[in-house]
Amino acid sequence: MSQFEKRVIAAERSNPRFSFKIKSLCYSIKIKNCKFQIRINMDIDIIRKDFSILQKEGSSVYLDSAATSLTPEPVLKAMDEYYRTYRANIHRGLYREAEKASVEYEATRRVIANFIGADSDEIIFTAGATGSSNMLMYAFELTDTFSEGDEVVTTIMEHNAVLLPLQAFAKRKKLNLRYIELGECFELDYDQAEKCITEKTKLVALTLASNVLGTINDVTRVARRAHEVGALVLVDATAAVGHVPVDVKQLDADFLFFSGHKMCGPTGVGVLYGKKSELAKLTPSYLGGGIIEEVTRTDYVLGEQPWSFEAGTPNIAGVIGLKKAVEYLETIGVENIQTHCHETLAYTQQELKKIEGVKIFSSDPVHNIGIVSFTLATVHPHDMAEILGKNGVAVRAGHHCAVPLHTELCIPATTRASIYLYTTKDDVDALIESVKEAQRIFAQA
Ligand code: ALA
Repeated sequence: MSQFEKRVIAAERSNPRFSFKIKSLCYSIKIKNCKFQIRINMDIDIIRKDFSILQKEGSSVYLDSAATSLTPEPVLKAMDEYYRTYRANIHRGLYREAEKASVEYEATRRVIANFIGADSDEIIFTAGATGSSNMLMYAFELTDTFSEGDEVVTTIMEHNAVLLPLQAFAKRKKLNLRYIELGECFELDYDQAEKCITEKTKLVALTLASNVLGTINDVTRVARRAHEVGALVLVDATAAVGHVPVDVKQLDADFLFFSGHKMCGPTGVGVLYGKKSELAKLTPSYLGGGIIEEVTRTDYVLGEQPWSFEAGTPNIAGVIGLKKAVEYLETIGVENIQTHCHETLAYTQQELKKIEGVKIFSSDPVHNIGIVSFTLATVHPHDMAEILGKNGVAVRAGHHCAVPLHTELCIPATTRASIYLYTTKDDVDALIESVKEAQRIFAQA
């Protein structure tokens, strides 16, 4: 149980006249027949208590959540409980532990589906965003949807997880790869996108939020155009899920994927969503145990989707942990997390801008998931990250697996600070002080 849940239960006990129910960060209160809600601010101090790593003496100021988020206690406990009390394989054994493991695993499918506005049978568990993306490209290759000369469209702000499998797929199938470019203010150029997507386009693959710029893209707008010409829409929601509300129907995504580890879940687990009608057209390319109806010496018949996409023993503990992560985020409320990240990012950008020579590569806070990448004229991003690291401030420097974007911006690298639900103003102040120190050190050099 999280500190936040404990606090609400304590409040309930001390107020027996009222019935309290947690809904995001609202207390839903029932008095006689009237029902109303009191919205309270996110209490970061309480939230931080759920992250034992933040309580550890000497732990870094963590501003690297875009690389991987931290893990709250309920997620650790759920995985620990699986290993300690009911570790067994799923969908195979008929004993108590195996049945419980299968039930918990399948419960995650429902929780994830509900979290992103999908149906359970549209959810495939994978090893992460990269696993999802590769799996999908190979599955596309086995269909007759794509022929030589067709076009696939992506954006200049994609992560390698999308870009590399897409490039390889395009090469193998002799497809033409086109790019939606950057417009103003580190956002996509939507006018150019309209022209880039043509009758020849068969697939549009785009990120919901950039892992470098933080920009939240207007996927719905791009999807509208893509669907006008009959193209499929694939959304990389890895940086966005758990940071902003994500609904596959509202986005009108045909496929969407993300990793667990950027949304308080464990590493090595992810999700691939496929619209039922589109998933039905795909054949799994990854084969093995647990996915068949029948096997003979020469052939096999696959079982039902989505299980037919999950060959072999999956990351059971990871999937169980992912369910807890979603429940944890829902307790706090993704909208509340989004607001907190906007506010903290606005403060970060404001303070960074006060430092002479700082150049920011990041969209405005309202259209941003909580990421600011920057350069400082006199200090290389890697030197910056090293000095910050020595001062106990964790950030990432480099191209962040988005080289074409950096090439487009005419910079080899940036330093990136990323914000999440546990980030405080003090964390930002520590960053700012360290950036100033790096500037002083290099001024003397
Ligand atoms: N994709 C992760 C990042 O942006 C690893 O840092």
